Amino acid sequence: MKAAHHPAGRDRDVIEGTSEIVQWPNCLTLFILRICSALQDHREKLIRGALLLLVETLPRTVGAQGADQVRAVQNIFHPLSKPAELINDTARLTLLICLIIFLVVGGLLLYSVVRFRRKSDDDDTSEPSQVYGSNAIELAWTIPPILIVIVLVLITARTVGEISNPQFSKDVVQLRVIGHRFWWELQYPDYGVTAANEIHVPVSYLPSTPRPIQMTLDSADVAHGFWVPELNGKLWVVPNHRNMMWIQPSVLGTYLGNCTVLCGDQHANMLIRVIVEPPEDFEKWIAGQKAPAVADPSVEDGRREFIENSCGTCHRIAGTPGADGVFGPDLTHFMSRQTLGSGVADNDDENLRSWLRDPQVLKPGCRMPNMKLDDKEVDLIFAYLKTLK
Ligand code: CUA
Repeated sequence: MKAAHHPAGRDRDVIEGTSEIVQWPNCLTLFILRICSALQDHREKLIRGALLLLVETLPRTVGAQGADQVRAVQNIFHPLSKPAELINDTARLTLLICLIIFLVVGGLLLYSVVRFRRKSDDDDTSEPSQVYGSNAIELAWTIPPILIVIVLVLITARTVGEISNPQFSKDVVQLRVIGHRFWWELQYPDYGVTAANEIHVPVSYLPSTPRPIQMTLDSADVAHGFWVPELNGKLWVVPNHRNMMWIQPSVLGTYLGNCTVLCGDQHANMLIRVIVEPPEDFEKWIAGQKAPAVADPSVEDGRREFIENSCGTCHRIAGTPGADGVFGPDLTHFMSRQTLGSGVADNDDENLRSWLRDPQVLKPGCRMPNMKLDDKEVDLIFAYLKTLK
C-alpha cells in the first residue's frame, strides 16, 4: 500500500515560492538596511541614524509575510541572512571582475579577427612582421593579472575574516546541530531544549538589534553537510571535528536546506527546515519545548504499546520511563513539528499512520525498521503520539 506522500515544502510550495520573492517595499527596506550595515563599519553614524529612521517609517513589510511562508526556491543569489549576504556580495564582485576580463579579452580577440582577417589583396608570399620579447606586451599580460589576483585575494580574505571572526554581543542563541543518518538533532544548551530537524530561530529585524545564532556542527556517524542557501554557505559536518557557523536572518520565513555530502541511502531526504520567527514566537516555542511531555491518561494504552514495542529504545520522551533512547529523534513534543522523517513528508494523520506501519514506505533505507505493528498497536501508538504537543 502506497501512502500519501507530500514532499513537505516542495511541490506544493513551489508555486507560492516563485511569486513570493520579496516585494518591493521589502526590497527597499532590505537595501537600506544593507547600506546601514555597511555604514556601521565607517562610523558614519549620522547618516546611518537617518536611514534607520527612514526604515522605521516604511511599512513594516520585512517579516510581514510570516514565519510559515515556505521559501521553497533555494536561491544563493537571494540571501536573507548575514553570512549569506557577505558571500553573495563577494561572489557578485568576483563575477563582475571576471565579466570585465571576459569582455576585454573577448573584445580584443573579436577586434583582431575582424581587423586582421584575410583580404583578397593580401600578399601571401611574405610572413607578417615577427615580434620577439616586447617588454610592453610582456608587462601588459603580467602586471594587470597579478593586480587582479591580489584584489580578488583581498576581497575574499576580508569576507572570510568577517564570517569566521564575528563580533558577537552577549545576546546570541547557541545551537548545537548533530548530523545523524538521516536526520538532524538540535540542542539549545542555554535553554536545555532538544529538538529535531526543524530549527526555530528569532529574526534580527534590524542590524542595530542583532540576535545571531551561533551554531556548532557535529556528526554522530558519517560525514554530512549543512546548507541553507539563503542563510549561509555550506559547511561539512564531520565526526570528531567540530565546525562552527552562524546565521543572522533578517526576514521571517521557513527556509529549506539540505545535507550536501553523500551519506547513504536517504542522503537526499535529510532535509533541514529553519523557521525564522518573531522573537516573541521563538520564546513561546522554547517555552513549549521546555515543558514536560503531555501525560494524557486517556492514551495510557498507547504509551504502554510505545514502550512495549521498544520505541523508547531509540526515541526519548522526556519524563517517560523506558523512553530515553538517543538513536532517533526526541519525540517529547513531536506534534510541534511540521514534517516527518526529517522533512520527507508532512506531519499529518495519513503519513504518521503510514510511518508507524512501515517507515520504509515513506523513507526507504532509513534507520527505523518496520516494527511489524498490527492495526490495533498502530492505532494506539498513533493516538499517543498525537497528544505529544
Ligand atoms: Cu547526511 Cu547526506
